[in-house]
Parts: sequence; structure tokens; C-alpha cells
Amino acid sequence: MQLSWSSRICTVYLAAAFLPMTFAAAAPSSSRNVTVDDTLGSADGSAKVMYSPPDAWKTGQNCTDCEVKTVDKNSALNGTWHEADYNVSKQSSITATLLFEGSAVYAYGMVPHDGSNITSNIYLSFILDDTDVGAFVRTPDGNGTTEYNVLLYSKDGLSSDKHNLTMVVGNPRFGGPQSVALLDYFVFTQSNSSSTSDAMGLSPGLVPTASVLAFSVVIPIIGFLLGA
Ligand SMILES: *[C@@H]1O[C@H](CO)[C@@H](O)[C@H](O)[C@H]1NC(C)=O
Ligand SMILES: *[C@@H]1O[C@H](CO)[C@@H](O)[C@H](O)[C@H]1NC(C)=O
Ligand SMILES: *[C@@H]1O[C@H](CO)[C@@H](O)[C@H](O)[C@H]1NC(C)=O
Ligand SMILES: *[C@@H]1O[C@H](CO)[C@@H](O)[C@H](O)[C@H]1NC(C)=O
Ligand SMILES: *[C@@H]1O[C@H](CO)[C@@H](O)[C@H](O)[C@H]1NC(C)=O
Ligand SMILES: *[C@@H]1O[C@H](CO)[C@@H](O)[C@H](O)[C@H]1NC(C)=O
Ligand SMILES: *[C@@H]1O[C@H](CO)[C@@H](O)[C@H](O)[C@H]1NC(C)=O
Ligand SMILES: *[C@@H]1O[C@H](CO)[C@@H](O)[C@H](O)[C@H]1NC(C)=O
Repeated sequence: MQLSWSSRICTVYLAAAFLPMTFAAAAPSSSRNVTVDDTLGSADGSAKVMYSPPDAWKTGQNCTDCEVKTVDKNSALNGTWHEADYNVSKQSSITATLLFEGSAVYAYGMVPHDGSNITSNIYLSFILDDTDVGAFVRTPDGNGTTEYNVLLYSKDGLSSDKHNLTMVVGNPRFGGPQSVALLDYFVFTQSNSSSTSDAMGLSPGLVPTASVLAFSVVIPIIGFLLGA
């Protein structure tokens, strides 16, 4: 079929109208990681770790009665960490909770390796949005070193909504008589792809349509350029 000049111009006009939209819709969704220090919280102050009961948690960097005395402050994020000691005969539930809005979450801490149950038994469990989602368990395996930035729990592929991650220290269901917890920081992944769509005035349902429309005008453009 032979296109008239006016329909060729109209085609280019359509392409010009739809292509920028397509690039915006096809741009990779941007996301960034937000670090939440155990003590200082996130850089912008919007996210903080909540401790329960508060007096079960000690700030490791200036603690005089912490069980684990081998942590190197310079190896801890922001020089800070929290210690909790669970003893089945004394406590019920010791928790650290992060409320976040994002699609992934990571919890990091220290793991001491020595021969003592008090400083090396680690029984942590994780509750995400009121569901049991995992556990981190270590028993004494002493060479006297301490590992840093140990991933205690991670989960990705969440909806980019509000979530609640709780770390529970010690848990009778593991049979462990005691547990230490050394919490250094959380990280969560914030996605802003939805706000990009909003800014463009596109509903998600329109995105494929825009792509198909743009694709359908590419062929006439090629035809136009070749002078078909
Ligand atoms: C969303 O991501 C884009 C691209 O990375 C960035 O330029 C923009 O500042 C982000 N917007 C928000 C609200 O974070
Ligand atoms: C966020 O951190 C996790 C864990 O380190 C990493 O796998 C992921 O690629 C990071 N995401 C972004 C957007 O930087
Ligand atoms: C230890 O450090 C924390 C966090 O900086 C602070 O709130 C607390 O008052 C300090 N405690 C002592 C005993 O210095
Ligand atoms: C904590 O440490 C991180 C990584 O070094 C840094 O980006 C952040 O600004 C520090 N936070 C504060 C409140 O100093
Ligand atoms: C746990 O508490 C009991 C009762 O107070 C005490 O006898 C025991 O030594 C404690 N265990 C540890 C590991 O602290
Ligand atoms: C450490 O805990 C294990 C498991 O409960 C127990 O069998 C062992 O006797 C404990 N060791 C010490 C030195 O208390
Ligand atoms: C977060 O989850 C914990 C454990 O399920 C729960 O105790 C707490 O109330 C929740 N907090 C919020 C603000 O949803
Ligand atoms: C100590 O033991 C831990 C756990 O088995 C291991 O990851 C670490 O590399 C050891 N460190 C040294 C110095 O042997």
C-alpha cells in the first residue's frame, strides 16, 4: 500500500507522540537500598529499630555488662550494635522490629565463634507480617574470632508496601536454653517505579498498550524513511 505524504507526516507525528511515553514506561524500575543502623536508624531518620522489652537490649558500644566483649567497634556499622541475652528460665520474648515500606529486607549482625554457650549460642527467628519466615541458628564452634556483616535473614520479592519484620531472640521451640543476639543493621529496598508511573500520568494497565502502539508505528516509519 502506497502512503500519501500527509499520512506519512501523520505517522511521524504519532511516533513522536508515543515514543517518549514508551521510553518512560520501559525504563527499568529504579530502586535503592536504605540502611537502618541499630542505634542511629536510617540516614533521613524515618526508619528506626524498635526494641522490646527495651531493657533487655544493651547498646554494645558503651555496654559494661554485655556478655560478648570481643566485638571490634571499628568493624560495626556506625560503630554501634545491640546485644540481647535470652535465658529460657528468665525471659519470655525479646524482639527487635523494623517497620519498612519496600520490596526486600535484610538483617545483619555479628556472630562470635567461641566455646561458650552464653556468647556463642544463637537462636534467632524471624516474623514477617505476622508469619514465621525463618531462623538463624549457630551453636558454639570456638576459634575465638567474631564474624561481622553476617546475613541473619533476607527476603526479596515482596510487594512494595508497608511491612513489619521482627527478629525474636531465643525460642523454646528450638530447645535452645539460651541465645545471644548481636544486631548491627537492617537494609531494605525501596522501589519508586510506581511513583514514576504516577508522575507520567500512566496507569499500569496503559503501559503495554503504549508499547504496542509505539511498535505499530515503527514499521510505517521505516517504510517512510525508505520512501516506500
Ligand atoms: C526515583 O528514581 C529516579 C531514577 O533513579 C530518581 O532520579 C528519583 O529521584 C527517584 N525518586 C524518588 C522519589 O526517590
Ligand atoms: C540491596 O542490597 C542487597 C543485599 O546486599 C543486594 O542484593 C541488592 O542488589 C541491593 N539492591 C539495590 C537496589 O542496590
Ligand atoms: C550508650 O549509647 C546510647 C546510644 O548512643 C545512648 O543512648 C546511651 O545513653 C549510652 N549509655 C551510656 C551508659 O553511656
Ligand atoms: C552510618 O554509616 C553509613 C555507612 O558508613 C553512612 O552512610 C551513614 O551516614 C552513617 N550514619 C550516620 C547517622 O552517621
Ligand atoms: C539463666 O537464669 C537462671 C535463673 O536466674 C540462672 O540460674 C542461669 O545461670 C542463667 N543462665 C545463663 C546462661 O545466664
Ligand atoms: C551448652 O548447651 C548444650 C545444649 O543445651 C548443652 O548440652 C551443653 O552442656 C552446654 N554446655 C555448657 C558448657 O554449658
Ligand atoms: C509487628 O510485628 C510484631 C510481631 O508480629 C507485632 O508484635 C507488632 O505489633 C507489629 N507492629 C506493627 C506496628 O504492626
Ligand atoms: C572461625 O570459625 C568460623 C566458623 O567455623 C570460620 O568461618 C572462620 O573462618 C574461622 N576463623 C579462623 C580465623 O579460623
